[in-house]
Amino acid sequence: MPQAPDFNDRMLSLGLSRVSEAAAIACADLIGRGDEKAADQAAVDAMRTQLNKLDIQGVVVIGEGERDEAPMLYIGEEVGNGKGPAVDIALDPLEGTTLTAKDMPNALAVIAMGPRGSMLHAPDVYMEKLAIGPGFRRGVVTLDMTPSERVSALASAKGCSTKDITVCVLERPRHEDLIAEIRSTGAAIRLITDGDVAGVMHCAEPVRTGIDMYMGSGGAPEGVLAAAALKCMGGQIFGKLLFRNDDERGRAKKAGITNFDRVYTRDDLVTGDVIFAATGVTDGSLLPGIKREPGFVTAETILMRSKTGSVRRMQYRNPVA
Ligand code: FBP
Repeated sequence: MPQAPDFNDRMLSLGLSRVSEAAAIACADLIGRGDEKAADQAAVDAMRTQLNKLDIQGVVVIGEGERDEAPMLYIGEEVGNGKGPAVDIALDPLEGTTLTAKDMPNALAVIAMGPRGSMLHAPDVYMEKLAIGPGFRRGVVTLDMTPSERVSALASAKGCSTKDITVCVLERPRHEDLIAEIRSTGAAIRLITDGDVAGVMHCAEPVRTGIDMYMGSGGAPEGVLAAAALKCMGGQIFGKLLFRNDDERGRAKKAGITNFDRVYTRDDLVTGDVIFAATGVTDGSLLPGIKREPGFVTAETILMRSKTGSVRRMQYRNPVA
C-alpha cells in the first residue's frame, strides 16, 4: 500500500487547536448580540491570523466561499507561513452564526487539515447526509434505505427497540416528511436549528450526547468537515450532493465533480489522514462554550488525529485585559 504523505500532523495538531481557540474566543463578545455578520467576521479574522502563523503551505479547500464572495479564507486562499508541508484545509470559523447571535447551543469554531488532495472540494450546495457512530458493521445503514428502515436497522444492530433510538435532524420545512417518518417508528428526534457539523459529531459520542444517528440535508462543505471529525472519532457518514439548479451543477463542475449522483462515504469525503480541532463557542452537548470571568477567558477544544484515533479535550484559560 502506498505510504500516506506525512504532514507533521503530530506537531501541527497543537497549532491547529490554537487556531480554533482563537476564532471561538474572538467571537465570544458577540454571543447573544443578534449580529451574525459581526460574529462571523471576528471569528474569520482571528482564525486567519493564527493560521498564518503555522509552518505550513496551506490551501483552503473548504472555506468561507468562492474568492469573489469572501474576502478572507476563500476557497483557494493560500495560508500558513509557507515553510512547512503542503496541506489542504477545511474550515468554518463560526459554524452556527445564528446560534451565536441568539446564544443558542452548539456553535463551534471548526478546522481540519490533511495532506494536499486529502479532502473533497465540496461545492457550496446541499448534501443529503446520514451518519452513525463507531462500532457498527460498514453499511449497517445506507442512504438507499428509507428513514424508517435506517432506524430499524440501527436498532437491531444495537440490540434495542426503535424507541431507544434518537435521531438528530435540522429543523427545516424541507424535512417535514423525514421527521414524520422517523417519528412513525417510535424513535425520538432532537431537532436542531443550525449546526450540523456538531449534529453529526454527536453520533460519535452517543452516551455523552444522547444522539444515535444524524439524517437530513445541509451544507456540503459542512459534510466534509463532519466526515473529517468522524474519521478521527470513528463512525460512518454517507453524503450525496443535491442540486437545485444549473448554477449549482456549475459550481460542482468547477470543483472537479463529474458524477452528480455519487454517494460519498466518509473515506471518499476525506481520503487521507487528517487532524481536526473544534472549540465550543456557545455551550453544547459536545463542548462547553467560551466562559468569561473577570480577568480571564476559558475555552474548551476537542483535538483529534485520525492516524492514531487520539481525542484530546483541552481547556485553555488565558488572562485578558
Ligand atoms: P451558518 O453557516 O450560518 O453558521 O449555518 C450553518 C448551518 O446550519 C450548517 O450547519 C448547515 O449545514 C447549514 O447551515 C444548513 O443550511 P440551511 O440553513 O440552508 O438549511
